[in-house]
Order: sequence, then structure tokens, then C-alpha cells
Amino acid sequence: MADYDAHAADYDLWSADTIDDVQWYVSLARDAGEPIVELAIGTGRVAIPIARETGKRVVGIDRSAAMLAVGREKAGDLPIEFREGDMRDFSVEEPVDLVICPGRSLMHCRTWAEKRSVFEHVAAALRPGGRFAWNVFAYSPFVAVANEGTRQTRGESWLEVRGAPPDNRIDLIHRGGVIPLWWMTRAEQEGLIDVAGLELEALYGGCHREPYDETTYEMVWLARKAA
Ligand SMILES: C[S@@+](CC[C@H](N)C(=O)[O-])C[C@H]1O[C@@H](n2cnc3c(N)ncnc32)[C@H](O)[C@@H]1O
Repeated sequence: MADYDAHAADYDLWSADTIDDVQWYVSLARDAGEPIVELAIGTGRVAIPIARETGKRVVGIDRSAAMLAVGREKAGDLPIEFREGDMRDFSVEEPVDLVICPGRSLMHCRTWAEKRSVFEHVAAALRPGGRFAWNVFAYSPFVAVANEGTRQTRGESWLEVRGAPPDNRIDLIHRGGVIPLWWMTRAEQEGLIDVAGLELEALYGGCHREPYDETTYEMVWLARKAA
């Protein structure tokens, strides 16, 4: 079973408040040719508004069959392909203008080698001038301490937060399963851009192009393949 299968039924409940990023990714999709590729598409939280608002085709890759099944059901006739696969080893039929990885999904990769593999596959999937956009949490020791051991609830569903500092990780414990998130530093992501042969276009502190500084808890990245 893929990590997220146990969480598929509850995922939309937990991500209902995560709306800030949707229009950011829709706006990038408006500027790109189709198809848009979404890594770790999940239940289509971002892909569905992209397809609905731009009319463009989305190819979404995810390793959880259960998340994909929820997404397919919700998307109905929209032009979205929910494809089972692994973002660490994916390919597309033709090079594309835009690859996105919303929802902090890159934080599910543990090692540098895994992340490097994602970035190298993205670079191979992009046309010259094409863009890769993603967002991850920015680590804050203050937020980590405040959240440690807390239990959050949504209706019947609950989720507990446990830090694992020696492994640079937090665990979200939910329905007896564990969703691990590995923190990514700024330098690590700059290194990934570099090693994949991409160029940094922008780093923001939020999806409204806020500056990235000590007051922001999100890193929103845009990288480009040289034209
Ligand atoms: C937090 S959800 C994000 C879903 C969606 N992108 C969103 O923003 O709502 C993380 C998703 O990453 C997927 N995932 C984790 N590791 C993956 C991998 N190596 N390859 C493909 N999908 C992966 C999980 O199955 C899950 O659907």
C-alpha cells in the first residue's frame, strides 16, 4: 500500500483550508501550453481548478491508487489523466512547458538522491524555457515547538504531530498510519536546481509573491530550463 492510501478518504477534509496556492498554480498554467504535468497530483485539489479554469489538459502522477481514485471520481469529464507512478522516476510523451509539485509533496522524499532524481526527471520533461514550480514548508523552530505533540481534529478525523529532529523530519500520525515530511532547506533546493541544470527564477515566501524572509513559513519556488 502506498503511504497515502489510508488517508485518501480524509485528504480533502484536511486540505479544505489549503486554498492560497490554487490560483498561483492556475496562473502559471494559464501562461503555459498543455499538457500541464502535476507531480503527486493526489485527489486533484490543484489539477481540477487548473483544468476547469484554463481548459488545459493535466497529466498527474501519483503513487497512491486510492488518492488517484478519489481524484478521478471528482474530476468527472475534465481533461485530467490521473496516472499511477512515482515522481522520482517519471517520463512524459513530449516535453512540456510546465511541471508543478504543489501541496509540499516533495517533502515526502527522504534522501538527497531521491530529490535529485525528481529534479533530473523534471529537467528531462521540460522544453527549453519550461518551468518547474513547487512549494514546501519553511522550517521554523518556533512553529515546530508550538506544534509538537498537538492533536488536531476535523469532525471524527484526528491527526497528531510528532517531530523527529535527528532525522530532520516531522510525522503526521493519522488513522494509525504515519505521513512523514522531511524538511528541505533553501540551500538544498538551490543545489537541486543547480544539479538538474535548471535556473532559479524566483523564491517567494508565499503564493502571492511575498518576499521570502523570517516572517514566512512557506517556500514557493520557480525554476526554469534555459531557453
Ligand atoms: C500532500 S498530498 C498532495 C496532493 C496534491 N498535490 C495537493 O496539493 O493537494 C501528497 C501526495 O504525494 C504523493 N506522493 C508521495 N510520494 C510520492 C512519489 N514518490 N511519487 C508520486 N507521488 C507521491 C502521495 O501519494 C500524495 O497523494
